[in-house]
Amino acid sequence: MKYVVGVDLGTSAVKVLLVNQAGEVYAESAKEYPLIQEKSGYSEQNPEDWVKQTILALKELVDHVNVSTEDIEGISFSGQMHGLVLLDEHHEVIRNAILWNDTRTTKQCDEIKEKLGEKLLKVTKNPALEGFTVPKILWVQENQPEFYEKATVFLLPKDYLRYRLTGQIHMDYSDAAGTLLLDVVNKEWSKEICEILNVDIDLCPPLVESHAFVGNLLPEIVEQTGLNQKTKIFAGGADNACGAIGAGILTQGVGLCSIGTSGVILSYEEDRNRDVEGKVHFFNHGKEDAYYVMGVTLSAGHSLSWFKDTFASSESFEDVVENVINVPIGANGLLFTPYLVGERTPHADAVIRGSFIGMDSSHKRDDFVRSIMEGITFSLNESITLFRNAGKKVDKMISIGGGAKNDSWLQMQADIFNTEIFKLENEQGPGMGAAMLAALGCEWFTSLEDCSNQFIQISKSFQPIDDHVNKYEQLYEVFTAIYPQTKELNEKLKPFRA
Ligand code: XUL
Repeated sequence: MKYVVGVDLGTSAVKVLLVNQAGEVYAESAKEYPLIQEKSGYSEQNPEDWVKQTILALKELVDHVNVSTEDIEGISFSGQMHGLVLLDEHHEVIRNAILWNDTRTTKQCDEIKEKLGEKLLKVTKNPALEGFTVPKILWVQENQPEFYEKATVFLLPKDYLRYRLTGQIHMDYSDAAGTLLLDVVNKEWSKEICEILNVDIDLCPPLVESHAFVGNLLPEIVEQTGLNQKTKIFAGGADNACGAIGAGILTQGVGLCSIGTSGVILSYEEDRNRDVEGKVHFFNHGKEDAYYVMGVTLSAGHSLSWFKDTFASSESFEDVVENVINVPIGANGLLFTPYLVGERTPHADAVIRGSFIGMDSSHKRDDFVRSIMEGITFSLNESITLFRNAGKKVDKMISIGGGAKNDSWLQMQADIFNTEIFKLENEQGPGMGAAMLAALGCEWFTSLEDCSNQFIQISKSFQPIDDHVNKYEQLYEVFTAIYPQTKELNEKLKPFRA
């Protein structure tokens, strides 16, 4: 039997999967790393942690299976998007990576809007948002010029990891799309945007397809992991593109709801001219010459992990969410907005913060947990509303990530989105998409669609229940009123934040 490895470099951990030719996960390993939050709105990581923990996870994978490493034919990657890694002339990291959920760059976003106007949307298909990469480059240029001057190339998180494993520098289109420097339709770095923003185009790495072969492991990595020098390394893609691949979202029709640290609602798109007016993201897919549109809730699973870490740190997630099934819809009158680190869709707002509305002395912990899950799902529903308003049909969705691990949450998604929700057999999220890119690169299949037919099966479906849909529609109306009514309050609170 032959195998491939999918590496998913997430925000809280790296997860590696060993997958066989039937698409079965033969083994897996995960290693965590910390987030560095110096101030409110800042979110960084030390890229060395990614490398160290990935090597450990790969070694653990190899050590625990009875598989000849000669049979591990390929490795590919999925990674948290947008994070800025700057390298100097020796390709050493200059400063910590500034991550996708770091919102310090509002000023730089305003400058980009002013300098580029409509050109930005025309070329990159996306608006200037704090999370994207180019505002971070401009922030370093303005605030740490000594670091910017030293930079010779910038990479995104999984590209840096892959560089450390292979010694080769590349970026794939699906991740490059999230930098705001890519001409998304023509698949090239935009000279014009670089010039207007005064970003040296030589900082941009060579572009490749997600399934492109980019090299082999360096001898020291072979030694440290026990993997084989002959194993082929393929570029990989953005975590959301890989999540879509790993859920078989490779044609129009079925949407994706992915709840990890962030939450996304994603829909496949082949029409490169579709104009979503920057209201949702428009990125290159990991499938060649395809795209997807996507709305993002910045703090989805993060809201639940914040609650667990703060109020129930010694318990498992399963224990914390176990009783939500016994709490009625609406959490006994408690509503939560998941704006713990600001928001992206539909409110691009770095200053807004979360609220619990309707707290009552009768509320118990389970009410809070249910209201958090409902609040995350309402926020994702705002992206679905935008898709529907843009004429997209959304009536079937595959759910992946943390939100797919609990049947009450899956039913909640069906009821709030008013769509049929599918759960996958043995769902592995973006790591499976990365493994599928390696499988395609190794020529096990002639297309990702063929691979998906072999690898992905639906295990269960959840239908919206009319009575629930009606109740949630009423609650959704209240939920959507919280943002405008708390916006100004949060602006006044900003000076008091850490
Ligand atoms: C997408 C985004 C997040 C990260 C999470 O634009 O910022 O979904 O990719 O890893």
